[in-house]
Amino acid sequence: MQKHHPLCLIKEKIVNYMHSNYRSKYHTPRFAVVDQLDPVVTLKDNFDTLLVPKDHPSRKQSDSYYVNSEYMLRAHTSAHQSNLMKMGLDHFLVVGDVYRRDEIDKSHYPVFHQMEGVSLIDNKMLSKMSDNIKMFESGEKTVEKQGVHTRDISMLCEADLKNCLIGLAKALFGQNIEYRWVECYFPFTHPSWELEVMFNGEWMEVLGCGIMEQQILHEAGISDKVGWAFGLGLERLAMILYGIPDIRLFWSQDSGFHSQFKDATHESKIKFKEFGKTPQNFNDLSFWLPLDRSYDPNDFYDLVRDQGGHCVEQVSLIDEFFNKKKGLTSHCYRIVYRHMDRPLTNQEVNVIHNQIKQAVAEQLGVTVR
Ligand code: DAH
Repeated sequence: MQKHHPLCLIKEKIVNYMHSNYRSKYHTPRFAVVDQLDPVVTLKDNFDTLLVPKDHPSRKQSDSYYVNSEYMLRAHTSAHQSNLMKMGLDHFLVVGDVYRRDEIDKSHYPVFHQMEGVSLIDNKMLSKMSDNIKMFESGEKTVEKQGVHTRDISMLCEADLKNCLIGLAKALFGQNIEYRWVECYFPFTHPSWELEVMFNGEWMEVLGCGIMEQQILHEAGISDKVGWAFGLGLERLAMILYGIPDIRLFWSQDSGFHSQFKDATHESKIKFKEFGKTPQNFNDLSFWLPLDRSYDPNDFYDLVRDQGGHCVEQVSLIDEFFNKKKGLTSHCYRIVYRHMDRPLTNQEVNVIHNQIKQAVAEQLGVTVR
């Protein structure tokens, strides 16, 4: 929401691409931009309406932030698809902060930002794109299409979706990019794909997408349309596009960061320059895991975040062993301390490390070695 912030620039780039390429009657933008929705959603919206199976790993307590048994912080912007369709929107972009419990390194942070795009096609639009296409049949689900969709509508939707997203990728990364589609699985789309773009000699996954499961539309009260959807992470795109090396930088208050974007528009070409790179400092922490198997590494990572905040750059499990005599498993983690904006003193690092140690002992039921 902050003007000139690189995440805002990326959002503007995408919105600009969508608005310039998709217009409705009277030349108004076809896609509504929805960016003020409350990140606290129901489990129903985050999972059930999207047909996420009850035993899907993303539902685990160790993967999401739950408020109680009914509410959680959204783990993806897909959580809003159904409600927005119920409200009558059929072309929209949802932008917002999303929350996931995860490891600690340069590309993971418990909160990041996503954009979701949804486009529903009705018979009227269809008649302009192609003649005489039937949308529905009762057939078998195959790798190519859903049972209720005709082959024609599925192919047309796929082409429309891929065309939109390739255009977007080119608008972001340049007309000459190398890209590939990778077939994949999401509970809420079929078929589903990830788009990968070649960047600095590596394939980078930039988004997930697919043809929306007809059941989701049906349950939202829509019986005469077929839809496609995509979801992408803004941090990842900004890191690639501007060459931003660490996800914590998006939270920096340092002028060394913001001055590099302060005059930028979504059209500016910017290459981020690292500023005042501060030294690293690391400290290891080992403990015996509790016997009741209640320990999950994400609990530890969260606790390190709580205590260490932006002073922690990375946490990695460097040693794990089982002591037969004791019947206990030991984990040793290396915590790399480095603040993005200023050097840390040894004393500061020691204080944080000891706080982490203490919190670990008190809250995780482990025995610090
Ligand atoms: N929600 C997915 C995620 O967070 C991304 C995604 C994939 C969104 C496919 C979509 C979609 O709308 O169609 O990983």
